[in-house]
Amino acid sequence: MKFLLVANWKMNPETKKEAKNLFDLIKKGLKNVKNTEVVICAPFPFISILNPRPKILKLGAQNCFWEKSGPFTGEISTLMLKDLNCQYVILGHSERRRYLGETDEMINKKLKAALKANLKPILCIGETEQEKRAGKTKKVLISQLKNAFNRLATKWLSRLIIAYEPVWAIGTGNSCGLEEAKRIYLFLRNLLQDENSSHPIPILYGGSVNSENARDYIEKAGFQGLLIGGASLDPQEFTKTVALLESLKKSEK
Ligand code: PGA
Repeated sequence: MKFLLVANWKMNPETKKEAKNLFDLIKKGLKNVKNTEVVICAPFPFISILNPRPKILKLGAQNCFWEKSGPFTGEISTLMLKDLNCQYVILGHSERRRYLGETDEMINKKLKAALKANLKPILCIGETEQEKRAGKTKKVLISQLKNAFNRLATKWLSRLIIAYEPVWAIGTGNSCGLEEAKRIYLFLRNLLQDENSSHPIPILYGGSVNSENARDYIEKAGFQGLLIGGASLDPQEFTKTVALLESLKKSEK
């Protein structure tokens, strides 16, 4: 299994020109990438201008709607994303849960729609600072996973990706401590009960990842990849992180 490095550009940059420039600089900075799948999740208006790309760069979106078409003003369907050559879609990001009122039920519908459309969903889960302080981290993660997986056929699980993103670590510079990250990784791995499967679900870490701490989340905490926000807008920093992952000996997982 390759490492997965996902860039979440969020609502950045401001113009098509800047987006294209950023994409091209990342593309240029990727050398001999063999063991890492690099996914760029740009804002919707920029996705179509990010072609062509070398095989190693994949495109993703930051959200989608659960219906295929129809009167859903402002929404984007999975079919539209497929048409733009997207292979991945981030779902349930904490910023969408918080600012757009996304519920577990909505995320469950989006997850099913994305899987049916042959997209690979990156499902974000994570506790808030308040939940962490109250000792509710595991409870929150179990509930988010259980609700997202509601009535999901097991055949879909092999295409799913989970991103553990503690909300308190996102964009704060306060990344999750390694011991804690490792504990959560093992907890999630155990919860997913897919140790014996030939396609274990990749679990990514996200939350203030940069080229300084990236390696440890893979090597020491055991994650299969990373979801990077702020640091993915700096092409040097981002490509340095790809190179770091490439230099790691691939785990057998
Ligand atoms: P960050 O964001 O790397 O800026 O903390 C991560 C994310 O929200 O996916």
